[in-house]
Amino acid sequence: MTIETRTIQPFPARRTAVVTGAGAPRGIGRRVVRKLLAEGWSVAAADIDGTAVEEFAAELSAELPAESEQKVIGVGVDISDQASVDAAFARIDVELPQVVSLVNLAGIPSPHSFFELTSEIWDRVMDVNAKGTLLMTQAAAKRMVDGGVGGRIVNTASITALDGGGTFSKTGYAAAKAAVQGLTRGFARELGQYGITANVILPGPIDTDIMGGTLTDERKEGMSANIPLQRVGQPEEVAGLIAFLVGEDSSFVSGTSINVDGGKHMH
Ligand SMILES: NC(=O)c1ccc[n+]([C@@H]2O[C@H](COP(=O)([O-])OP(=O)(O)OC[C@H]3O[C@@H](n4cnc5c(N)ncnc54)[C@H](O)[C@@H]3O)[C@@H](O)[C@H]2O)c1
Repeated sequence: MTIETRTIQPFPARRTAVVTGAGAPRGIGRRVVRKLLAEGWSVAAADIDGTAVEEFAAELSAELPAESEQKVIGVGVDISDQASVDAAFARIDVELPQVVSLVNLAGIPSPHSFFELTSEIWDRVMDVNAKGTLLMTQAAAKRMVDGGVGGRIVNTASITALDGGGTFSKTGYAAAKAAVQGLTRGFARELGQYGITANVILPGPIDTDIMGGTLTDERKEGMSANIPLQRVGQPEEVAGLIAFLVGEDSSFVSGTSINVDGGKHMH
């Protein structure tokens, strides 16, 4: 470790953010990709739906000014699979500038009730939400350490992790998202020596298609009743928080959990 890693390092002008979960058209991931591009980052838009992110990246590339040094690529990856993660980063290494940040947004819900929670469902929910966050972070952090200017990790839990169940999911999801919170604290503690911060966001109900478009207007109204702001959140409201945590202004914020839930869960 050098002294430099313990000082505030400016980010290089050409730098890459890796954003997982960018395949869903109405998801939070796409909002984050657009926001980080607008803030000067090159972006790897990653998702298990490789076709969706490649089409999305092609659309965004066409919008960049011809003289732009920024790049955006779509990367198909199953975050729960080590070989797939390795292949994704091998491509990112070749096609994009230095990786300085990682936004772990890819996740799956688990609406199964306690007695429906089979061993197979448990394994998949833990594999994607928790192990996927670990594998992506190990790959990205290795590159951040090699880059020598620190980095940013932003993970995604849910207020469900605090409440033991919620709008989309029950016990399995609550446990997996609580694991993401624990992982984040471990990352913050172990990676801080390299100037890498790690933080976790806990969204409340956000208007995306995570439940396959089942969030009807009637259901949204019902859910809003116990939210002080009296509405569900929009993906861009989560993207704004993530952009702050990914940016240079959050250089001394690490290991923290931030709710983005309209005041639903106060602690
Ligand atoms: N929308 C909400 O209300 C809400 C609330 C709390 C937490 N969250 C969390 O926020 C994150 C984003 O939520 P969203 O609403 O945008 O979800 P979404 O369902 O719209 O998008 C999730 C994306 O993750 C991708 N994905 C799933 N498994 C993957 C895998 N194995 N490898 C790579 N990609 C994979 C999906 O293809 C999809 O594009 C998730 O982690 C979710 O659990 C969402």
